[in-house]
Amino acid sequence: MRVFTEKKLIQKQLQQFKAKKQTIGFVPTMGALHLGHVSLVIKALENNAVVVVSIFVNPTQFDNSEDLKNYPRTLERDTNLLNAVSSSIIIYAPSVDDIYEGNTKSQKFSFGGLEFEMEGKFRVGHFDGVGTIVKRLFEIIKPDNAYFGEKDFQQLAIIKAMVKNHNIPVNVVGCPIHRETNGLAMSSRNERLKPKYKKVAPFIFKTLKTAKQKFGTKSASKVTEWVEKQFDNQELLELEYFIIADVESLKPVKRKSNKKEYRAFIAAYADDIRLIDNIALN
Ligand code: PAJ
Repeated sequence: MRVFTEKKLIQKQLQQFKAKKQTIGFVPTMGALHLGHVSLVIKALENNAVVVVSIFVNPTQFDNSEDLKNYPRTLERDTNLLNAVSSSIIIYAPSVDDIYEGNTKSQKFSFGGLEFEMEGKFRVGHFDGVGTIVKRLFEIIKPDNAYFGEKDFQQLAIIKAMVKNHNIPVNVVGCPIHRETNGLAMSSRNERLKPKYKKVAPFIFKTLKTAKQKFGTKSASKVTEWVEKQFDNQELLELEYFIIADVESLKPVKRKSNKKEYRAFIAAYADDIRLIDNIALN
């Protein structure tokens, strides 16, 4: 298992693979790895000669300093987990300085309006931070294929827009949401849930599934009303938003059309932990 902490050294190593025209698959992460991350890594291993996983808690995408401070950092455990998947995986776990070179700031991006919806409304500056780090990582690793989870569907859409706008030569691959058997979407934040919140958290996916059923016969606003009522009656979870959006624009649906694809999105707090999830509606 090779773990690099400096961009110069990993680039030197990757150059050898590129010289042999071996394809590079890349999975960017913030660590505290779980089986959701592993599902992306497995997909990358299936389709590339070399797989790089980055582990970097990116300060510029956090709008809340407590969240940044509390974000789990478990490099040794992450390395062991990846090693168990395949000892051929290359890890890039840089320091903040290796990435930002003393200027820990976001670049400003325009993602064609995608950045103003949902997460963009509630986490100011978040997507500039994500764009900045992912663009930088793409420049360092220069992957052929890069893997992102639909768990962060808006992030996936934004990365696709960035790659297109900036002509970055990488194929962005979206991967399905990996869940606990009780339906809860796997997340690095789940391990911080106290037992009573962990117990109630699957309510989020359960509600999404019923919302999907209801959307077959009811309008988006009726379904939204119903979801908001469910959360009013669930005192351990606080709904931040429920939105049914068009998958292309991520704008809330006003009038349903058979020609469009929709997805329902939720963000909710369990205690001080913010959980997000989404489901395809058609
Ligand atoms: P992180 O939250 O660590 O997630 C890394 C990747 O794993 C993302 O593409 C995310 O969508 C995916 N992922 C997380 N949980 C998943 C699940 N349950 N099923 C499927 N995929 C899942 O997302 C980030 O880090 C950062 O914003 C990053 C892109 C690394 C930039 O800093």
